[in-house]
Amino acid sequence: MGQVVLITGCRSGFGLHMAVHAARAGHTVYAGLRDAGDAGELLRAAGDLDVRPLQLDVTDARQREDAVARVVAETGRLDALVNNAGTALGGPLEMIDEDELRALFDLNVFAPWALTKAALPTMRAQGRGRVINISSMSGRQALPVLGAYASSKFALEGMSEAWRRELADLGVDVILVEPGAYRTDIFGRNRRVARRAHDEPAYAELLRRFEAIYDRSVERMARDPEEVAALVVRLLAAKRPVLRHPIGPATLVRNLALRLLPQRAVEGLVAAALKRGSR
Ligand SMILES: NC(=O)c1ccc[n+]([C@@H]2O[C@H](COP(=O)([O-])OP(=O)(O)OC[C@H]3O[C@@H](n4cnc5c(N)ncnc54)[C@H](OP(=O)(O)O)[C@@H]3O)[C@@H](O)[C@H]2O)c1
Repeated sequence: MGQVVLITGCRSGFGLHMAVHAARAGHTVYAGLRDAGDAGELLRAAGDLDVRPLQLDVTDARQREDAVARVVAETGRLDALVNNAGTALGGPLEMIDEDELRALFDLNVFAPWALTKAALPTMRAQGRGRVINISSMSGRQALPVLGAYASSKFALEGMSEAWRRELADLGVDVILVEPGAYRTDIFGRNRRVARRAHDEPAYAELLRRFEAIYDRSVERMARDPEEVAALVVRLLAAKRPVLRHPIGPATLVRNLALRLLPQRAVEGLVAAALKRGSR
């Protein structure tokens, strides 16, 4: 049976593709947009499918409440929430200003927490529901220069793991999707770098190495975001999904290495990759 699904951050990237794939699978999709005026690309991609654009800046408490209220008023249910809206922030941790870190956590951590809270009374009353949080491979391994982003995704992972256990007996599943690199606007229009990232010469060499590797690996390895959208749609229907779903280039090898290798070996591999990749 078609579900009622609310997805955040549907202007571009994963969110846009998830909205279209989920509607194609027969679900009724409420597609959250930071600015509802930016629905053009989404609506073109959706065509005649049941995708309903929804004004939802996830950092705005009133808009979160209004969005959930509209979904429930129009359909009487909310079967699944996909917390997808998010962004990255580049820069050595010392060079990130407090307002930048707080804004990142507002979007990547506090917003999914608050939106889940807003959705839970309906899901608990139904006795079922599913929350899918879009984390990252950076939610399990923190690379230099992406420390702020990784910290926010580690926080989302911790919260999701605890929430899954708290909600297990109430019929609500909490799931994490952990993508590697995919071609979305996070590497283009929405690429964010801390305003003082390059101000301190002590970090110049690290930044040079990291940026060289980062740009090259995105160019060579980043995959089609439709893969992630297809996984999320499978997870909407999955009978007993596990907590973590890594997906993307080299994720299997990296996760195995993280699990099986001693810490010193993992650190050595990261250091060697940073050195090698910058040449
Ligand atoms: N692409 C990757 O390789 C990758 C890998 C791992 C994890 N992820 C995660 O995937 C998620 C989606 O990112 P993406 O790669 O699809 O990048 P994207 O194309 O930049 O999409 C991010 C979406 O989030 C929206 N957004 C930003 N701030 C918002 C706010 N305050 N309220 C509502 N929506 C907001 C953006 O809308 P506007 O453009 O209007 O701001 C955009 O639609 C993020 O959580 C990201 O961390 C991406």
